[in-house]
Amino acid sequence: MKPDGLPVNGIYHGDCLDLLRQLPDESADLIFADPPYNLQLNKVLFRPDRSLVGAVDEGWDKFESFRSYDDFTRAWLAECRRVLKATGCIWVIGTYHNIFRVGSVMQDTGFWILNDVIWIKPNPTPNFMGTRFTNAHETLIWASKSRDSKYTFHYQALKGYNDDLQMRSDWLIPVCKGPERIREEGKKAHPTQKPEELLYRIILGTTNPGDLVIDPFTGSGTAAAMAKRLGRNFIAFERELEYVDLARERIEGITPMNSPLLEYRTERRLPRVPFGNLVASGYIRVGERLWSADRSVSAVVQADTSLVCDGMTGSIHSLSTIVSGRERTNGWSYWHAEREGELLSIDELRKEYRKSHQC
Ligand SMILES: C[S@@+](CC[C@H](N)C(=O)[O-])C[C@H]1O[C@@H](n2cnc3c(N)ncnc32)[C@H](O)[C@@H]1O
Repeated sequence: MKPDGLPVNGIYHGDCLDLLRQLPDESADLIFADPPYNLQLNKVLFRPDRSLVGAVDEGWDKFESFRSYDDFTRAWLAECRRVLKATGCIWVIGTYHNIFRVGSVMQDTGFWILNDVIWIKPNPTPNFMGTRFTNAHETLIWASKSRDSKYTFHYQALKGYNDDLQMRSDWLIPVCKGPERIREEGKKAHPTQKPEELLYRIILGTTNPGDLVIDPFTGSGTAAAMAKRLGRNFIAFERELEYVDLARERIEGITPMNSPLLEYRTERRLPRVPFGNLVASGYIRVGERLWSADRSVSAVVQADTSLVCDGMTGSIHSLSTIVSGRERTNGWSYWHAEREGELLSIDELRKEYRKSHQC
C-alpha cells in the first residue's frame, strides 16, 4: 500500500528516489527535473589569467559509468511517471553530457515527447581552452505521461508572452546573474542555479493555478520558488543539506501573486452552443419566422434546424450568405427573432440560453 504522501509546499531533505516513493500515484501535475549532468570532468580548468573555472565537480554529479548513470535515470524516471497524473507533464533539462541518455530512457519508460526546447544562453561561459565550440545552450525535453494524455498547454498565454507570435522552441534567456544569483560570501551559493525566467515560462505555460509541481533535484529551489510565486503548490527534494537550507530560505522570501492576477484571461473561450440547441430547447420555435435586421428578408425554422426562404434552404450561415449576396455572413448576427414586438438577434437569444444553462 502507498503511504499518504508528503505535505505540499515543503523542501525535503534526502534522496529523491526514497522521497518520490512516499508520494501517491497520479498526484503531480508537473514534474520539473534538473538531474545531475554526469559531466565526467577529469581535469581542473583554468582561465587564461590562471584563475580556476568554477565547473560542476561536486559529489552529487559523479557516477562510475554511463551504465550507473542510466540505472539511476531509469529509477527516478519510473517513479516520476508513477507519481504523474494522466493529465500532467514532465520537463527535464540537461546538456549534451546527459540529455540524449535521459531522452532515450524517457521514451523507454513510456513518456511521450511533445517538444525539445533549446535554452539559448546569450552570456555563456566561454570555452577557455579554445578546443571546442562555446557551449551556449541547454536542452529541455517536454513530455506527457503517454501518447494520449490531455496535458495542459496555455497556447494563447504563451503567444501573448511572445508579443503575439507563436511561442517557439528556442528560448533566449540569460544565465542567471546579478541580484537573482544567490551568493554566499561572494561565491555562487549553488553552481547550477537556473534562471527564474525559464521556470516562469514553463510553469505559466504548462500548469494551472493550484496545481502541484514536483522538483526531485531542487538545488537552490528555483522551480519551487516560481511555483510559489505563481500560486501553484510544490514538493521539492534535495540531497545536500546546505542546498536544502538555501532553498528553504529562498522560498520563505517569496510572496505568491494574488489569485485574480493568475487567471488566464486571453483563453477564456465560451463553450460552443450550436443553433440546434436553441431550437431543441424551445428558445427558437420550429415554424417561427426569423428576420434580417431591416425586415427585408425572412425565413422559417424547420424541425431539422434548417431555414427555408423563398424555396431556398440552408443553415443559419449558408442561407444568410445566399440571401445577403455577400461572400460570407455570420448567421448569428444576420437573423433576428421577434420578441415582444422587437427584433432580437439570435446571438442575443444564445446569450440568454448560455446564462440560463450556465455555459
Ligand atoms: C543540476 S542541480 C539543480 C539546480 C536547480 N534546478 C536550481 O535552479 O538551483 C541538481 C541538484 O540535485 C541534487 N541531487 C543530486 N542527486 C540527487 C538525488 N539522488 N536526490 C536528491 N537530490 C539530488 C544535487 O545536490 C543538486 O543540488
